[in-house]
Amino acid sequence: MNHLAVLTSGGDSPGMNACIRAVVRTAGLNNIRVSGVYRGYQGLIEDDIIEVNRDHVRNTIHRGGTWLKTARSDEFRTPEGRQKAIANLRARGIDALVVIGGDGSFRGATALSAEMEDLPVIGCPGTIDNDLFGTDLTIGYDTAVNTAVEAVDRIRDTAASHNRLFFVEVMGRDAGFIALRTGIAAGAEAVLIPETTTYIDELVQKLETDWKERRRSGIIVVAEGDDGGGAIEVARKVQERFPQWETKVTVLGHIQRGGRPSAQDRILASRMGHGAVLGLLQGQSRVMVGVQSGQVVYVPFEQATKHHQAINPYLLELVEALG
Ligand code: F6P
Repeated sequence: MNHLAVLTSGGDSPGMNACIRAVVRTAGLNNIRVSGVYRGYQGLIEDDIIEVNRDHVRNTIHRGGTWLKTARSDEFRTPEGRQKAIANLRARGIDALVVIGGDGSFRGATALSAEMEDLPVIGCPGTIDNDLFGTDLTIGYDTAVNTAVEAVDRIRDTAASHNRLFFVEVMGRDAGFIALRTGIAAGAEAVLIPETTTYIDELVQKLETDWKERRRSGIIVVAEGDDGGGAIEVARKVQERFPQWETKVTVLGHIQRGGRPSAQDRILASRMGHGAVLGLLQGQSRVMVGVQSGQVVYVPFEQATKHHQAINPYLLELVEALG
């Protein structure tokens, strides 16, 4: 391996910059040239690529987002798009690729490496959703949960002052990890997630009990992908059935994706970026770098993207018991 390229793809997540930095500096230490690809796979197609060295990543570890920028490229999903990318990789003499992103990005990497078999490709899990199998945590998840908890703490102040019931929607199109952790840490009354069926009747019953016990303010955390239809829809249904309670909705949205990465995310991202280059040097390919129980592991892309890590039922019980 003489020349690797690194890109960030899909939704940005706090810690991606720390991961890029680790890739660039580890490669430099091993005398490997590095190219940075702007705007993910779209930049690969459009040859939006620069050579980088350790100076390019100075003063980036603490910054949210990704300085390489990111994109969700429809063109890369087509064989024609990927052929353009392959032509650019070959023209530049790039002989390995590090992809920092989520499951869609790893599916793209798998397709690319099937069509360019001599290109080793390795992934670092960068997504706030934590919805990849084979790693305990993904880069950005910890920061996103901390951001959501801080927001819910603020909402709780006003909820309590006005005796209001707040439905707070957090991100997670297909996964309830952010919602569950946020709910526990912020002391929510209930958490609604895509992995479990939402029964409005049950929720109303619980709220009625709370009401009788004179608990007049409350927080329900709703994952955006919950089968109940998101916070706005759930709040509407509850309000219909329970008009005594004044309900409000807050959708946290992209505020959860931005901001300074937590120390935990910076450390995780640094380990993963470092592990990606060492993995390539050891001959790894088509794998994601994971950290399981404190150890760096390499997990085949198919496993990482096909399965979801399961929601811990104990955490659901915890919300139930304490909320
Ligand atoms: O995959 C990360 C994520 O933040 C999801 O939680 C969310 O549904 C999605 O990205 C939003 O994507 P976009 O910013 O492209 O609308």
